[in-house]
Amino acid sequence: MDKDHIFFENYAGTWDRDRKENSQQLQFLMQLAHIPQGSSIMDAGCGTGVLIPYLCQAVGETGQVEELDYSKKMLHKAKEKFGHIHNVIFTEANILNCSLAPGQYDGIVALNFYPHIASQFHEFIKRVYTALRPGGMLIIMHDMPRCAVNAIHGDASTEPGLPAVDILETALIGAGFTVVMAMDTEEYYFVKVVKAQSLPYEQYPDDGFARPGTAGEYAARQLHHHDPAQQKMIQNRLARISGHLEAIKRMVQEDRDCSEVLIQLSAVDSALVSVSKVILRNHIDHCIVDAIRENDMEAVENLKRAISTFVK
Ligand SMILES: C[S@@+](CC[C@H](N)C(=O)[O-])C[C@H]1O[C@@H](n2cnc3c(N)ncnc32)[C@H](O)[C@@H]1O
Repeated sequence: MDKDHIFFENYAGTWDRDRKENSQQLQFLMQLAHIPQGSSIMDAGCGTGVLIPYLCQAVGETGQVEELDYSKKMLHKAKEKFGHIHNVIFTEANILNCSLAPGQYDGIVALNFYPHIASQFHEFIKRVYTALRPGGMLIIMHDMPRCAVNAIHGDASTEPGLPAVDILETALIGAGFTVVMAMDTEEYYFVKVVKAQSLPYEQYPDDGFARPGTAGEYAARQLHHHDPAQQKMIQNRLARISGHLEAIKRMVQEDRDCSEVLIQLSAVDSALVSVSKVILRNHIDHCIVDAIRENDMEAVENLKRAISTFVK
Protein backbone atom coordinates (compact mmCIF):
# COMPACT_ATOMS: atom_id res chain seq x y z
CA MET A 1 0.00 0.00 0.00
CA ASP A 2 1.34 3.46 -0.88
CA LYS A 3 1.09 6.56 1.34
CA ASP A 4 -2.07 7.83 -0.37
CA HIS A 5 -3.77 4.46 -0.02
CA ILE A 6 -2.98 4.21 3.72
CA PHE A 7 -4.19 7.80 4.15
CA PHE A 8 -7.62 6.96 2.71
CA GLU A 9 -7.95 3.71 4.66
CA ASN A 10 -7.41 5.73 7.85
CA TYR A 11 -9.67 8.57 6.77
CA ALA A 12 -12.71 6.51 5.69
CA GLY A 13 -14.46 6.73 9.07
CA THR A 14 -14.55 10.54 9.15
CA TRP A 15 -14.46 11.32 5.41
CA ASP A 16 -18.18 12.15 5.12
CA ARG A 17 -18.10 14.41 8.18
CA ASP A 18 -15.13 16.42 6.85
CA ARG A 19 -16.05 16.36 3.18
CA LYS A 20 -19.09 18.61 3.61
CA GLU A 21 -21.20 17.65 0.60
CA ASN A 22 -22.69 20.64 -1.16
CA SER A 23 -25.63 19.10 -2.99
CA GLN A 24 -26.45 22.22 -5.01
CA GLN A 25 -22.89 22.35 -6.30
CA LEU A 26 -22.84 18.62 -7.15
CA GLN A 27 -26.20 18.91 -8.87
CA PHE A 28 -24.85 21.75 -10.97
CA LEU A 29 -21.73 19.77 -11.94
CA MET A 30 -23.89 16.80 -12.89
CA GLN A 31 -25.99 19.11 -15.01
CA LEU A 32 -22.85 20.15 -16.87
CA ALA A 33 -21.89 16.47 -17.18
CA HIS A 34 -25.19 15.77 -18.92
CA ILE A 35 -25.05 11.97 -18.63
CA PRO A 36 -27.74 10.26 -20.73
CA GLN A 37 -30.24 7.80 -19.21
CA GLY A 38 -29.25 4.18 -19.71
CA SER A 39 -25.49 4.94 -19.55
CA SER A 40 -22.95 2.68 -17.97
CA ILE A 41 -20.73 4.92 -15.83
CA MET A 42 -17.63 4.34 -13.75
CA ASP A 43 -17.17 6.61 -10.72
CA ALA A 44 -13.36 6.50 -10.50
CA GLY A 45 -11.93 7.07 -7.01
CA CYS A 46 -15.51 7.06 -5.70
CA GLY A 47 -14.55 7.28 -2.02
CA THR A 48 -17.58 6.87 0.21
CA GLY A 49 -19.92 7.23 -2.78
CA VAL A 50 -20.94 10.87 -2.56
CA LEU A 51 -21.89 10.86 -6.26
CA ILE A 52 -24.05 7.72 -6.18
CA PRO A 53 -27.45 9.42 -5.81
CA TYR A 54 -26.64 11.94 -8.57
CA LEU A 55 -25.27 9.29 -10.94
CA CYS A 56 -28.23 6.97 -10.31
CA GLN A 57 -30.63 9.78 -11.07
CA ALA A 58 -28.77 10.54 -14.30
CA VAL A 59 -28.50 6.97 -15.63
CA GLY A 60 -31.98 5.91 -14.47
CA GLU A 61 -33.23 2.37 -13.94
CA THR A 62 -31.76 1.09 -17.18
CA GLY A 63 -28.24 2.39 -16.61
CA GLN A 64 -25.46 1.12 -14.40
CA VAL A 65 -23.03 2.79 -11.99
CA GLU A 66 -19.75 1.18 -11.03
CA GLU A 67 -18.12 2.60 -7.92
CA LEU A 68 -14.40 1.95 -8.13
CA ASP A 69 -11.88 2.68 -5.40
CA TYR A 70 -8.77 0.95 -4.09
CA SER A 71 -9.58 1.72 -0.46
CA LYS A 72 -11.51 -1.15 1.13
CA LYS A 73 -12.75 1.07 3.95
CA MET A 74 -13.91 3.96 1.74
CA LEU A 75 -15.78 1.47 -0.42
CA HIS A 76 -17.25 -0.21 2.67
CA LYS A 77 -18.74 3.14 3.73
CA ALA A 78 -20.21 3.59 0.24
CA LYS A 79 -21.76 0.10 0.41
CA GLU A 80 -23.21 0.76 3.88
CA LYS A 81 -25.08 3.77 2.48
CA PHE A 82 -25.97 2.64 -1.03
CA GLY A 83 -25.41 -1.14 -1.20
CA HIS A 84 -29.17 -1.68 -1.59
CA ILE A 85 -29.40 0.05 -4.99
CA HIS A 86 -29.75 -2.68 -7.62
CA ASN A 87 -27.83 -1.03 -10.45
CA VAL A 88 -24.80 0.11 -8.44
CA ILE A 89 -21.82 -2.21 -8.26
CA PHE A 90 -18.74 -1.78 -6.08
CA THR A 91 -15.25 -2.64 -7.27
CA GLU A 92 -12.22 -2.60 -5.02
CA ALA A 93 -9.37 -1.98 -7.46
CA ASN A 94 -6.51 0.28 -8.38
CA ILE A 95 -7.51 2.03 -11.62
CA LEU A 96 -3.87 2.07 -12.70
CA ASN A 97 -3.50 -1.70 -12.85
CA CYS A 98 -6.90 -3.40 -12.70
CA SER A 99 -8.36 -5.17 -15.69
CA LEU A 100 -10.70 -3.00 -17.79
CA ALA A 101 -12.44 -4.36 -20.86
CA PRO A 102 -12.08 -2.17 -23.99
CA GLY A 103 -15.13 0.01 -24.69
CA GLN A 104 -16.92 -1.12 -21.55
CA TYR A 105 -18.12 2.30 -20.29
CA ASP A 106 -20.22 5.10 -21.77
CA GLY A 107 -18.63 7.45 -19.29
CA ILE A 108 -15.99 7.73 -16.60
CA VAL A 109 -16.39 10.37 -13.93
CA ALA A 110 -13.52 11.40 -11.69
CA LEU A 111 -14.62 13.68 -8.84
CA ASN A 112 -11.76 15.03 -6.71
CA PHE A 113 -9.60 12.26 -8.07
CA TYR A 114 -7.20 13.77 -10.58
CA PRO A 115 -4.36 14.76 -8.18
CA HIS A 116 -4.13 11.12 -7.06
CA ILE A 117 -3.22 9.93 -10.55
CA ALA A 118 -1.48 13.13 -11.75
CA SER A 119 1.98 11.59 -11.46
CA GLN A 120 0.81 8.68 -13.64
CA PHE A 121 -1.37 10.72 -15.94
CA HIS A 122 -0.33 8.94 -19.16
CA GLU A 123 -1.10 5.48 -17.80
CA PHE A 124 -4.43 6.71 -16.40
CA ILE A 125 -5.49 8.36 -19.67
CA LYS A 126 -4.41 5.40 -21.79
CA ARG A 127 -6.49 3.05 -19.62
CA VAL A 128 -9.50 5.34 -19.48
CA TYR A 129 -9.41 5.94 -23.25
CA THR A 130 -9.38 2.19 -23.93
CA ALA A 131 -12.13 1.46 -21.41
CA LEU A 132 -14.48 4.03 -22.98
CA ARG A 133 -16.58 3.20 -26.02
CA PRO A 134 -16.10 5.49 -29.05
CA GLY A 135 -17.99 8.70 -28.23
CA GLY A 136 -17.80 7.89 -24.49
CA MET A 137 -17.14 10.74 -22.08
CA LEU A 138 -14.51 11.42 -19.45
CA ILE A 139 -15.33 14.00 -16.82
CA ILE A 140 -12.66 15.34 -14.51
CA MET A 141 -14.21 17.58 -11.92
CA HIS A 142 -13.71 19.14 -8.50
CA ASP A 143 -16.36 20.68 -6.33
CA MET A 144 -13.86 23.28 -5.17
CA PRO A 145 -11.63 25.78 -6.99
CA ARG A 146 -8.26 24.72 -8.41
CA CYS A 147 -6.31 26.86 -5.93
CA ALA A 148 -8.03 25.04 -3.03
CA VAL A 149 -7.22 21.64 -4.57
CA ASN A 150 -3.58 22.61 -4.99
CA ALA A 151 -3.40 24.01 -1.47
CA ILE A 152 -4.32 20.51 -0.26
CA HIS A 153 -2.07 18.66 -2.71
CA GLY A 154 1.56 19.43 -2.11
CA ASP A 155 3.73 22.13 -3.55
CA ALA A 156 1.64 23.85 -6.21
CA SER A 157 4.55 26.14 -7.19
CA THR A 158 6.61 23.26 -8.58
CA GLU A 159 4.10 20.75 -9.90
CA PRO A 160 0.45 21.53 -9.27
CA GLY A 161 -1.71 18.49 -8.53
CA LEU A 162 -4.42 20.01 -10.68
CA PRO A 163 -3.19 21.91 -13.77
CA ALA A 164 -4.86 24.92 -15.39
CA VAL A 165 -7.71 23.71 -17.64
CA ASP A 166 -5.96 24.64 -20.88
CA ILE A 167 -2.97 22.48 -19.92
CA LEU A 168 -5.22 19.54 -19.12
CA GLU A 169 -7.18 20.15 -22.34
CA THR A 170 -4.01 20.05 -24.42
CA ALA A 171 -2.93 16.79 -22.80
CA LEU A 172 -6.37 15.23 -23.33
CA ILE A 173 -6.52 16.37 -26.96
CA GLY A 174 -3.08 14.83 -27.44
CA ALA A 175 -4.48 11.55 -26.09
CA GLY A 176 -7.23 11.53 -28.74
CA PHE A 177 -10.12 13.20 -26.88
CA THR A 178 -12.23 16.13 -28.04
CA VAL A 179 -13.02 18.81 -25.49
CA VAL A 180 -16.72 19.42 -24.87
CA MET A 181 -16.43 21.83 -21.98
CA ALA A 182 -13.71 23.11 -19.69
CA MET A 183 -14.23 25.54 -16.85
CA ASP A 184 -12.10 26.72 -14.00
CA THR A 185 -14.09 29.04 -11.75
CA GLU A 186 -13.93 30.33 -8.19
CA GLU A 187 -16.22 27.48 -7.14
CA TYR A 188 -15.40 24.46 -9.24
CA TYR A 189 -13.22 22.88 -11.90
CA PHE A 190 -14.88 20.95 -14.70
CA VAL A 191 -13.49 19.31 -17.83
CA LYS A 192 -15.60 17.09 -20.08
CA VAL A 193 -14.04 15.37 -23.08
CA VAL A 194 -15.23 12.63 -25.43
CA LYS A 195 -13.36 9.83 -27.09
CA ALA A 196 -13.19 10.12 -30.88
CA GLN A 197 -16.13 8.45 -32.66
CA SER A 198 -13.97 7.57 -35.62
CA LEU A 199 -10.51 6.18 -36.08
CA PRO A 200 -7.49 8.45 -36.02
CA TYR A 201 -6.42 9.30 -39.57
CA GLU A 202 -3.45 6.93 -39.65
CA GLN A 203 -5.76 4.00 -38.87
CA TYR A 204 -8.07 4.44 -41.86
CA PRO A 205 -7.44 2.08 -44.79
CA ASP A 206 -5.73 3.77 -47.71
CA ASP A 207 -8.77 3.56 -50.03
CA GLY A 208 -8.89 7.15 -51.29
CA PHE A 209 -12.23 8.12 -49.66
CA ALA A 210 -12.50 11.67 -48.30
CA ARG A 211 -12.89 11.55 -44.52
CA PRO A 212 -12.69 14.19 -41.86
CA GLY A 213 -9.06 14.86 -41.16
CA THR A 214 -7.79 13.07 -44.28
CA ALA A 215 -4.77 14.09 -46.30
CA GLY A 216 -7.11 15.79 -48.83
CA GLU A 217 -8.63 18.03 -46.20
CA TYR A 218 -5.23 18.75 -44.78
CA ALA A 219 -3.97 19.81 -48.22
CA ALA A 220 -7.05 22.01 -48.74
CA ARG A 221 -6.42 23.70 -45.41
CA GLN A 222 -2.83 24.29 -46.43
CA LEU A 223 -4.05 26.08 -49.58
CA HIS A 224 -6.01 28.48 -47.37
CA HIS A 225 -2.92 28.94 -45.20
CA HIS A 226 -4.70 27.98 -42.00
CA ASP A 227 -2.55 26.28 -39.45
CA PRO A 228 -4.25 22.88 -38.75
CA ALA A 229 -3.27 22.98 -35.07
CA GLN A 230 -4.82 26.45 -34.68
CA GLN A 231 -7.95 25.34 -36.55
CA LYS A 232 -8.31 22.33 -34.25
CA MET A 233 -7.89 24.57 -31.20
CA ILE A 234 -10.59 26.96 -32.52
CA GLN A 235 -12.95 24.04 -33.23
CA ASN A 236 -12.42 22.76 -29.70
CA ARG A 237 -13.08 26.16 -28.19
CA LEU A 238 -16.27 26.59 -30.23
CA ALA A 239 -17.43 23.10 -29.25
CA ARG A 240 -16.87 24.00 -25.61
CA ILE A 241 -18.79 27.25 -25.94
CA SER A 242 -21.70 25.47 -27.55
CA GLY A 243 -21.64 22.80 -24.80
CA HIS A 244 -21.64 25.56 -22.20
CA LEU A 245 -24.56 27.27 -23.92
CA GLU A 246 -26.50 23.97 -23.95
CA ALA A 247 -25.96 23.71 -20.19
CA ILE A 248 -27.28 27.26 -19.74
CA LYS A 249 -30.32 26.41 -21.87
CA ARG A 250 -31.05 23.54 -19.49
CA MET A 251 -30.61 25.86 -16.50
CA VAL A 252 -33.25 28.18 -17.96
CA GLN A 253 -35.57 25.22 -18.69
CA GLU A 254 -35.20 24.19 -15.05
CA ASP A 255 -35.97 27.72 -13.92
CA ARG A 256 -32.62 28.15 -12.16
CA ASP A 257 -31.71 31.33 -10.33
CA CYS A 258 -31.33 34.27 -12.79
CA SER A 259 -28.05 35.46 -11.29
CA GLU A 260 -26.51 31.98 -11.79
CA VAL A 261 -27.71 32.02 -15.42
CA LEU A 262 -26.26 35.50 -15.96
CA ILE A 263 -22.87 34.51 -14.53
CA GLN A 264 -22.70 31.55 -16.92
CA LEU A 265 -23.83 33.73 -19.85
CA SER A 266 -21.10 36.26 -19.17
CA ALA A 267 -18.55 33.40 -19.17
CA VAL A 268 -19.83 32.38 -22.64
CA ASP A 269 -19.68 36.00 -23.75
CA SER A 270 -16.01 36.37 -22.82
CA ALA A 271 -15.17 32.97 -24.33
CA LEU A 272 -16.73 34.13 -27.62
CA VAL A 273 -14.79 37.40 -27.61
CA SER A 274 -11.59 35.53 -26.92
CA VAL A 275 -12.09 32.99 -29.74
CA SER A 276 -13.03 35.82 -32.13
CA LYS A 277 -9.72 37.51 -31.31
CA VAL A 278 -7.82 34.32 -32.15
CA ILE A 279 -9.62 34.02 -35.50
CA LEU A 280 -8.99 37.69 -36.27
CA ARG A 281 -5.30 37.39 -35.37
CA ASN A 282 -4.92 34.29 -37.56
CA HIS A 283 -6.77 35.99 -40.39
CA ILE A 284 -4.41 38.98 -40.28
CA ASP A 285 -1.29 36.81 -39.89
CA HIS A 286 -2.07 34.45 -42.75
CA CYS A 287 -4.96 35.30 -45.08
CA ILE A 288 -4.41 39.07 -45.20
CA VAL A 289 -0.65 38.85 -45.58
CA ASP A 290 -1.25 36.55 -48.58
CA ALA A 291 -4.00 38.82 -49.95
CA ILE A 292 -1.70 41.86 -49.86
CA ARG A 293 1.07 39.87 -51.51
CA GLU A 294 -1.37 38.85 -54.27
CA ASN A 295 -2.90 42.35 -54.46
CA ASP A 296 -6.33 41.00 -53.49
CA MET A 297 -7.94 44.26 -52.36
CA GLU A 298 -11.37 42.67 -51.93
CA ALA A 299 -10.00 40.51 -49.09
CA VAL A 300 -8.53 43.61 -47.43
CA GLU A 301 -11.88 45.43 -47.70
CA ASN A 302 -13.65 42.39 -46.21
CA LEU A 303 -11.22 42.46 -43.29
CA LYS A 304 -11.94 46.16 -42.65
CA ARG A 305 -15.67 45.39 -42.57
CA ALA A 306 -15.11 42.44 -40.19
CA ILE A 307 -13.00 44.59 -37.85
CA SER A 308 -15.57 47.40 -37.72
CA THR A 309 -18.31 44.87 -36.87
CA PHE A 310 -16.11 43.24 -34.23
CA VAL A 311 -15.10 46.48 -32.44
CA LYS A 312 -18.60 48.04 -32.52
C1 LIG B 1 -10.14 12.74 -2.61
S1 LIG B 1 -10.92 11.17 -2.56
C2 LIG B 1 -12.39 11.54 -3.50
C3 LIG B 1 -13.54 10.64 -3.15
C4 LIG B 1 -14.86 11.03 -3.79
N1 LIG B 1 -14.77 11.03 -5.22
C5 LIG B 1 -15.32 12.36 -3.26
O1 LIG B 1 -15.27 13.36 -3.99
O2 LIG B 1 -15.74 12.38 -2.11
C6 LIG B 1 -9.97 10.21 -3.68
C7 LIG B 1 -10.35 8.74 -3.70
O3 LIG B 1 -9.59 8.11 -4.71
C8 LIG B 1 -9.15 6.84 -4.25
N2 LIG B 1 -7.95 6.49 -5.04
C9 LIG B 1 -6.77 7.14 -5.06
N3 LIG B 1 -5.93 6.56 -5.95
C10 LIG B 1 -6.63 5.51 -6.50
C11 LIG B 1 -6.32 4.55 -7.50
N4 LIG B 1 -5.13 4.52 -8.08
N5 LIG B 1 -7.27 3.64 -7.83
C12 LIG B 1 -8.49 3.66 -7.22
N6 LIG B 1 -8.82 4.54 -6.27
C13 LIG B 1 -7.92 5.47 -5.91
C14 LIG B 1 -8.92 7.03 -2.77
O4 LIG B 1 -8.99 5.83 -2.05
C15 LIG B 1 -10.04 8.01 -2.41
O5 LIG B 1 -11.19 7.33 -1.97
